Amino acid sequence: MTGKIYSASTTAPVNIATLKYWGKRDTKLNLPTNSSISVTLSQDDLRTLTTASAADFFQSDKLWLDGKEESLEGPRLVACLSELRALRKALEDANPEFPPLSKYHLHIISENNFPTAAGLASSAAGFAALVRAIANLYDLHQSPEDLSRIARQGSGSACRSMFGGYVAWEMGQEADGSDSRAVQIATQEAWPDMKAAILVISASKKETSSTLGMQTTVNTSTLFKYRAEVVVPQRFKEMSKAIVNKDFETFGKLTMIDSNQFHAVCLDSSPPVFYMNDTSRLVIGLIEKFNKIHDRVVAAYTFDAGPNAVLYYLERDEPIVLGLLKAAVPEVDGWDKKSYTASIAPTVPEGVD
Ligand code: DP6
Repeated sequence: MTGKIYSASTTAPVNIATLKYWGKRDTKLNLPTNSSISVTLSQDDLRTLTTASAADFFQSDKLWLDGKEESLEGPRLVACLSELRALRKALEDANPEFPPLSKYHLHIISENNFPTAAGLASSAAGFAALVRAIANLYDLHQSPEDLSRIARQGSGSACRSMFGGYVAWEMGQEADGSDSRAVQIATQEAWPDMKAAILVISASKKETSSTLGMQTTVNTSTLFKYRAEVVVPQRFKEMSKAIVNKDFETFGKLTMIDSNQFHAVCLDSSPPVFYMNDTSRLVIGLIEKFNKIHDRVVAAYTFDAGPNAVLYYLERDEPIVLGLLKAAVPEVDGWDKKSYTASIAPTVPEGVD
């Protein structure tokens, strides 16, 4: 035994989908039924910080999430770890002088600076940070696109957190998932004045996990097939174009109708899956009226698998958007007065000291 501990740390950002991923065509490889689009939020605001360590005296693989030890036995974690270990093993075979880290157990410590599993994309940032921290520890030089394929197997949305700016997860066609990966549609620099406000309506853990909810939809919803096969492919092209053209009006409209359709297929599932609550619906009504008064899309709402609202808007409109929220939302029950504003992430850092 050498007694030496090898460590690497990294942070990963949250991404919030504007064209939602909802449904798996292969649950083992985590392959989606439709492509999706998201915006990566700046790590100054929301992020996961992860440290991965390996040592020949560690007795087993271990994971601590926000200070609490979690099981590392889930098939998705196992899939990520074995892919990363196989890449490291290949590197060690080619470079016999490298320490045999692929044989050592791992200790992973991960910490979010925002509520976990409350529909705020914690699994996206979590798996992205885990994959990148281990890749750094193993000295792997795979591209973000390659790493996104590994992170995807941990949690689908995690693949999009491998890039900053505006990101697509292309569903791919291959049965082995080799072409199901994230790509950048536009950099943050290309459209830097986008901002997001995150309204934490409830920080409690969601009742139905995304994994369970989406498979209930796939198995039971009749609307779902139409969404996945007809609506999303067209919307994907329109939203990508709106991003490239910096057309906020179109981007915002598509974002809102897509969030509503995603919650509609949840309701069309049996048993129905509810993620939004009365406060979420109040926010929808408020933003719809606000946009109507201004005769343009000033802010676009979107809701993931939870009641919390994310609003996208352009920086110049921040005073009126935040003014509206301050005036109207704190009056409502269930609003715990916690919210964040976030800029769009530029590139995703490769590691931290
Ligand atoms: C509503 O990526 O959490 O946020 O792949 O089962 O881990 P798993 O699901 P996850 O689902 C995210 C669903 C969503 C939409 C989205 O982010 O595109």
